Amino acid sequence: MARLLLFGGKGGVGKTTTSTSTAVGLADAGLKVLLVSSDPAHSTSDSLGVQLGSEPSEVEGVPGLWGLELDPESRISDHIPKLTESLGPLMGGESADLNASEMILPGLDEAMAFDELLKHLENPGWDVIVFDTAPTGHTLRFLALPEIIEKWADKIIKMHRVTGGIRAMMFGSKEGDKLKEELDKFRRRVLHVRRILCNPEVTRFTLVTIPEKMGVNETVRAYKSLAEFELPVTGCVINRMTPDLEHEFIQTRRTNEAGNVKTLTESLPNLHLHEVELKDSDIHGLDALRSISNELHGKINVSEGLGPFTIGLGLEVHRGTWLQGDEVQLHLPGIVREDLSLRSEDGTILVGINGREHPVEFTRPAKASQVNAKLEDEVLRLTFPAE
Ligand SMILES: Nc1ncnc2c1ncn2[C@@H]1O[C@H](COP(=O)(O)OP(=O)(O)OP(=O)(O)O)[C@@H](O)[C@H]1O
Ligand SMILES: [Mg+2]
Repeated sequence: MARLLLFGGKGGVGKTTTSTSTAVGLADAGLKVLLVSSDPAHSTSDSLGVQLGSEPSEVEGVPGLWGLELDPESRISDHIPKLTESLGPLMGGESADLNASEMILPGLDEAMAFDELLKHLENPGWDVIVFDTAPTGHTLRFLALPEIIEKWADKIIKMHRVTGGIRAMMFGSKEGDKLKEELDKFRRRVLHVRRILCNPEVTRFTLVTIPEKMGVNETVRAYKSLAEFELPVTGCVINRMTPDLEHEFIQTRRTNEAGNVKTLTESLPNLHLHEVELKDSDIHGLDALRSISNELHGKINVSEGLGPFTIGLGLEVHRGTWLQGDEVQLHLPGIVREDLSLRSEDGTILVGINGREHPVEFTRPAKASQVNAKLEDEVLRLTFPAE
């Protein structure tokens, strides 16, 4: 499983700049990186100077880096049509005393985005996925969804009993059961996403902010709400620090900023803080991004093997797959044997992870029956027969 690095913060503070720089730095170090953006303004494309689409596309000039812009339309997972289908008669039903606003699940969009992200995360072909989140301020509202769904489901099912009561008397209560099942399936899916996001072996969250009082206050609040869900927040970038120039105005700003940084450091003592100065121009294009990556992480060294490798901001990354001789190692934190499957098709080995199959790269064709598979310490080792 790939490592997931999330960058979040208020609008315009530098999320795209820091996440894109990190992705470029990691790819330059030899990792296979997918940069995912959920920003409808396409700023990730602008920052890199390439057009990204809804499927991973290779970024020119950075071997190993692929980009993807989550398309809001494609977020609708398999569960949603079924869910709305089941709810349809209720939502339009005149007798429903549940108003429309109660029907809207807060954070449903984000839940869908993360569900889509999960598909890539589970693909062992990626080493690191860098996620440039949208500037909503409620990016992770959906974390509370499972509890909301639980409360909500009871209401809906009660409603369903009332409106569907007569039909149920005639035809049985199959529909109610189906609805309950769909809601529960969706709730479990979100719980799964939450488990992944809370696993520090998979996910790390970096806050991005600016050295202004409002920015700092908002960041401390964001940290607290993320910590409530036990999300592994490890670093914070304080971007746009005023450079040290001889001018009274500049020096006054710097004094104020130093005070705000002090507040931040005292409020969040466990975070790796990193200051980045305001540059004399926007940060666009690969050279500028590489220079920011260097400021944030220094030279990123990845040696042989799965890792982990430490980079700046208290972040750690892992390879998704490591091929060595007759053995392929897959990094699969949090996985249990029951969620894994193995089969082959035309000489290609397919590893199933949580019901989704991924081809495993290997130097020559092999059959599943010839492969020796062993899951140990979160690593799946596939040993291929000697020729
Ligand atoms: N340290 C810096 N010095 C100069 N310009 C910067 C710096 N950091 C970011 N910028 C510029 O500021 C603008 C906003 O940065 P960026 O797009 O990274 O913010 P964002 O948090 O992703 O914004 P949004 O919330 O709109 O997605 C960009 O034009 C970027 O090039
Ligand atoms: Mg952005």
